[in-house]
Amino acid sequence: MTAEKIKEIVSQMTLEEKASMCSGADFWHTEAVERLGIPASMVSDGPHGLRKQDQEADHLGVNESIKAVCFPAGCGTAASFNRDLLRQMGETLGEECQAEGVSVILGPAVNIKRSPLCGRNFEYYSEDPYVASEAAGALIHGIQSKNVGTSIKHFLANNQETRRMSSDSRIDERTLREIYLAAFEGAVRKEKPWTVMCSYNKINGTYAAENHKYLTEVLRGEWGFDGYVMSDWGAVNSRVKDLQAGLDLEMPSSNGSNDKLIVGAVQSGELPERVLDTAVARILNIVFRYEENRDKSAVFDRDKDHETARRVAQETIVLLKNEGVLPLSEQDEIAFIGKYAKTPRYQGGGSSHINSHKVTSALDEVKGMPNVTYAQGFDDKEDKTDEKLLTEAVEAAKKAKVAVIFAGLPDAFESEGFDREHMRMPNCQNELISRVAAVQPNTVVVLHNGSPVEMPWVNEVKGIVEAYLGGQAVGGAVCDILFGKVNPSAKLPETFPLKLEDNPSYLSYIGEGDMVEYREGIFVGYRYYDKKRMEVLFPFGHGLSYTTFAYSNLRTDKDAMKDTDTMEVSVDVENTGKMAGKEVVQLYIADKESTVIRPLKELKGFEKVELAPGEKKTVTFRLDKRAFAYYSVKIHDWHVETGAFDIMIGASSADIKLTKKVNIESTVKIPVVYTTDTTMGDVLMDPRAGEIVKELFQIPIFAGAMAKDRGEAASEAISDEMSAAMAKFIPLRGALSFGGDMNMADIQEIVARLNALEEG
Ligand code: BGC
Repeated sequence: MTAEKIKEIVSQMTLEEKASMCSGADFWHTEAVERLGIPASMVSDGPHGLRKQDQEADHLGVNESIKAVCFPAGCGTAASFNRDLLRQMGETLGEECQAEGVSVILGPAVNIKRSPLCGRNFEYYSEDPYVASEAAGALIHGIQSKNVGTSIKHFLANNQETRRMSSDSRIDERTLREIYLAAFEGAVRKEKPWTVMCSYNKINGTYAAENHKYLTEVLRGEWGFDGYVMSDWGAVNSRVKDLQAGLDLEMPSSNGSNDKLIVGAVQSGELPERVLDTAVARILNIVFRYEENRDKSAVFDRDKDHETARRVAQETIVLLKNEGVLPLSEQDEIAFIGKYAKTPRYQGGGSSHINSHKVTSALDEVKGMPNVTYAQGFDDKEDKTDEKLLTEAVEAAKKAKVAVIFAGLPDAFESEGFDREHMRMPNCQNELISRVAAVQPNTVVVLHNGSPVEMPWVNEVKGIVEAYLGGQAVGGAVCDILFGKVNPSAKLPETFPLKLEDNPSYLSYIGEGDMVEYREGIFVGYRYYDKKRMEVLFPFGHGLSYTTFAYSNLRTDKDAMKDTDTMEVSVDVENTGKMAGKEVVQLYIADKESTVIRPLKELKGFEKVELAPGEKKTVTFRLDKRAFAYYSVKIHDWHVETGAFDIMIGASSADIKLTKKVNIESTVKIPVVYTTDTTMGDVLMDPRAGEIVKELFQIPIFAGAMAKDRGEAASEAISDEMSAAMAKFIPLRGALSFGGDMNMADIQEIVARLNALEEG
């Protein structure tokens, strides 16, 4: 519908109708205004399936929703590092929504995994904003290609569940830009989600729902978002203020009480009516965009989509460790051990919980194989070892050639609404793994969890498979990987630290009361472990294959460029093994000459490439300014420092195969403001400024800074270098205290001349 037509409809609405349009009619619908032909529009949770509730509604996954198909959760789909796959999953979800009359699916959720403890990590994508944004972008693209909207969430800085409705995320500007906003930015700019969902929490003292800076200045002003912003369920705290900040739709509803506030504020002149009109127009634009593109022929084919879920799951399973034990041979005597072989844990709790129409377990998948035995091994309702179950499992393992233990985190450990308290698996499972490994040298552990766990038994087993929360078809997909029908190709979108205490947010997560300071700043995940050169359990980007890949011929189309230009990077990758497979080629950038504090390297590109044995392909990336930039709080913009950068190509963050040096020249000069407090060293960074301060060189204390230029012999006690090093840190006003016949007026005059230099 054209903007003019929408404007016309808005002009025909009463003040009360407009106010009511800005909050839900019920838990899942927007208001209808029949006399003007405005239909109610349904939104539904997901986004790794459709949680459409047509009976009792709730936002915590308590009441039933329709039977649907549960795809792997975000933790897994990010691990696929496969944009095409995420797009296909999105297309399937889009079709399901069309078939069910859902206009907007509430996701994807891109919040950064600041700590392994966050209860909703299983829904989120990564500790890295580039991965999160790319994964979200691909899913959004797929869903919206079916004329169904998405709601990228939870905007902004909602990285814990503890006190999520009142906590205040205290984050410095650079960290917000480089990490937390960046997770949304790429997806919003490129894929234009129809809606954005604001989070419950405050950001630097202001609730997300009433945050004009992020909802309006950044989201719309900078990134060009043109849909509507809806609140998370119950995130509205001050309706009129929120509306002015850019929050268009309140969900679910306040049963009319906030509508009255809006009406009153317009009547009293507190709220300009055009602000309300704009919000209504944004909502109607999306309501009609969906209505006018309804696909009445769409069908929700659950069995077909189950197969898609299996295909997605195959690429979300990360092979963490393999000492020649995998793939398994179908002929071998195999003991499947652990409750999750029979009843897999395949999704998390809360609003994303899908009512699966069927679930395939690994045991279902091997029904036709009499050589596979099963022992339950543990009860996931208890932390304590059940000796009977343990003994049965150990006996089964002894009799087999290989033992595969299906372990992980029980439901109660991971959910929306609360955080984990530790990073351990239940004791009964850790004990089971150690006891089985003690009698069976060929032990493989398959993990079902949405977030990293500590693995005290890591050196006791030969194989570890991270199945994440793989959706309802996980059992089949895991068997495809175990038996080598599919070559594993997923990589970790997060670091698995050795222990929780190693995590950079450890000292300040979950804050004090409502105050949550992000003290680790930009050093989230691998950015921290890398810089500290710490040993980790499994690094970011890690994931093994049954074949091998060789990297060669890293090249760029230029060795140097201005930051306004772009650079093409290519590398050849060859499958040097015997099995067809896919490799995730990762591109990292390192600033070699930075004057600001930066990570050792940051991921700026990835491509997944499929190769037959012996096949070689060229993988190409295009880098622009942003790939080399940091966010400067001096100019409130992205900035590249002139100098050398390394382009690194790796199979993981810890496995860099090839490196090439390039030079980038900045076209932006960060203005310098000189004061009497500016140090001599800073002045001398600009040779023109050095000329101006020459008069100060006569003063002994500053002479050192210029010792080389003056070519004078140093005293015996202090060398030229020492003297220069000391003098560098003395402010210009030091000329008063350390000799010479300067007075403050003289120094201020020098400062004025220095500043004139900048202006000129
Ligand atoms: C969650 C959202 C969800 C909404 C509706 C909230 O509690 O944070 O992610 O979309 O409920 O169920």
